[in-house]
Amino acid sequence: MPLTMDNNRVTTRGRVLSVLLDEMRAAQIGVVGSPSDTTEITIDILEAAEAGRIRGQMVYLVLPHDNCRIAILGQVSRVETQNRWHEDMAFRGIIKRQGALPHLSGRADVRTATLTVQAAFTIDVDESGEEFCAEDMLGTSPGTGAKVYAVRDEVLQALLEKYKNELVYLGRVFGTQVRMPFTLRHFGKGVGGAGEAYHIGVFGKTGSGKSGLAAYLLLAYARHRNMGLLFIDPQGQFSSDRDLPFPLHLSLRAAGRDVQVYKLASQVRLREDANQFAELLRKAGFYRFLGIKNPDNQEIAVEVLYAAVRKVLTDRKAKIDAAPGNLLRETLQTILDDSKALERIYTGKERREQLADRLRGVLTDEGEYQELQEKTWQPALDLFQKVDSKGNERTALWNIVTSVINANEQETQPIVFLDISGEGTAFKDDEEIKAMLLKEIAVALDKEGGRAFENGRRLNCLVALDEAHRYVRAYTRGDDMSEMAQLTKKFVDAVRTTRKYGLGYMFITQTLASLHREIIGQLRLNAFGYGLTMGSELAQLEEIVGDPEALSLYKSFVDPQSRREYPFMFTGPASPLSFTGMPLFVQMFTRFSDFAEANPTAAARTALSVAEGGNGSGISPVPVTAPARGFATEEAFQKARNADFD
Ligand SMILES: Nc1ncnc2c1ncn2[C@@H]1O[C@H](COP(=O)(O)OP(=O)(O)OP(=O)(O)O)[C@@H](O)[C@H]1O
Ligand SMILES: [Mg+2]
Repeated sequence: MPLTMDNNRVTTRGRVLSVLLDEMRAAQIGVVGSPSDTTEITIDILEAAEAGRIRGQMVYLVLPHDNCRIAILGQVSRVETQNRWHEDMAFRGIIKRQGALPHLSGRADVRTATLTVQAAFTIDVDESGEEFCAEDMLGTSPGTGAKVYAVRDEVLQALLEKYKNELVYLGRVFGTQVRMPFTLRHFGKGVGGAGEAYHIGVFGKTGSGKSGLAAYLLLAYARHRNMGLLFIDPQGQFSSDRDLPFPLHLSLRAAGRDVQVYKLASQVRLREDANQFAELLRKAGFYRFLGIKNPDNQEIAVEVLYAAVRKVLTDRKAKIDAAPGNLLRETLQTILDDSKALERIYTGKERREQLADRLRGVLTDEGEYQELQEKTWQPALDLFQKVDSKGNERTALWNIVTSVINANEQETQPIVFLDISGEGTAFKDDEEIKAMLLKEIAVALDKEGGRAFENGRRLNCLVALDEAHRYVRAYTRGDDMSEMAQLTKKFVDAVRTTRKYGLGYMFITQTLASLHREIIGQLRLNAFGYGLTMGSELAQLEEIVGDPEALSLYKSFVDPQSRREYPFMFTGPASPLSFTGMPLFVQMFTRFSDFAEANPTAAARTALSVAEGGNGSGISPVPVTAPARGFATEEAFQKARNADFD
């Protein structure tokens, strides 16, 4: 074996050093220059490397360190050209006249790059003489002249050998062909676990690839069978596997997971709660139809209706989940017969009598009655029925939500997609109703999580909310009683408490400003896609990221719309390379075949084989409606679709 450093315990190159210092394969891009410290290292770029892409490159160097070696890894955040002749006033006069300096312009340039240190690994030998790596920190600034090389896949593999069973690759190091290793641990203890839950934020402007990233994250987390995943899907994109970069359901199933989809429009039932029903009626325009327009009167009307519904149901010994067919007629009659009830809504005699007339009118005019029933009453009531007016069987929301957290810890947990788009219902575009629903979900998770915690059990569950900006507010004012304000308060509260139950939230949203600061403050792992460049967004990003060099690299992201590349800046514990807290820059895979090649698990291979037209041996058919983008070819995608339906 070749000798490396005299007067050193490590005199021969072991497994790791032979890869790192392999002169044949290592591409040197420069040497350590001046000034350099322990977090930022100046690199003098070699002439041979000047023409290549330097910015964003991940590079490494190996230094002597306490009798052994230390490998420093980092990303080049800035590159600068200097030419002292071009700074000289006398020569600038010549440049002005001639356009350049003969023999000096270009040739006398020096390029300096700034490396932001991301990770450091001590390379030492154990008793048996085997080389090993351990996370470390740079204890002193590097000496000038040390060689700086471009990172290769083998280098990362060698340094991260001990994580090899945990690594998952979702993309490449920004601006390079090197695969970026992620760990993405589950929230429990034991193998592959972080030992605690953490909350996740995914940000970026529309089209920046957030949903695509979320799909890859789900696939990565799905490796952990003991982790439950609940995806709240406001557009039905994930539930119907549409417009995602790869066939998500198929891949999750290929990973051995049980995938369930529930649609609010036809499969979900709300908690038995006549009060909530009365409230929903307000959002559906029921009280307005009866001529009660003032919000204060409506509020009382909600209470009156609630009491009337309760009375009818009790008299009929029925429940709202199996409401009698003429519940509306009997409820209206009950209110009409109760002068006190009418008086509560309107103290003034005139208005009261108007309302009574209106009620009588609706009860006698079949056309009006039908309209009230079909437009407002039934759509609201259907959301509470075990079997709704269209014959759909509905599962209680509470049960759906808790199925993700209540399975035995040893069992494989389900992956649930909850489509709250409400497509085909009267509530399709009503964000307030969806906020109400989300609140119920958050309450269920909180209650059941708390209960499990009291019983000494920890959940291991990630709840993702796409398009969070549509439901969660940035601020809550005390007097704001809207569902969104209440939901926001609930989430602000939940992100503080549910972590200890082993429950983490993932918020996916277009802007930082749209999410309450208290929620942002609780996010541990963040991914920032293209487009947070508005002044206030950038200022907030700066607050989170801190490092100006990292921010400048973030700003160099190009709009995915023009390049079809989806870059993200990650902060927090996403990768074994992020232990120093420096952000990581990743270009997401754009072809599923790249993912399958980088992660040669049986599941990835099966999913790919189905995607490319194989039979995928034993994968149950799933409706895949994603467009061809993530596939190697359009044909491969069509084949995958057909294979699914065969
Ligand atoms: N990693 C990827 N590989 C290939 N295509 C991708 C990838 N990520 C996103 N896309 C594609 O780019 C388009 C926009 O991406 P995506 O839907 O993820 O954006 P978004 O950030 O979620 O936008 P919005 O905020 O509007 O929901 C989609 O057509 C999607 O299929
Ligand atoms: Mg999206």
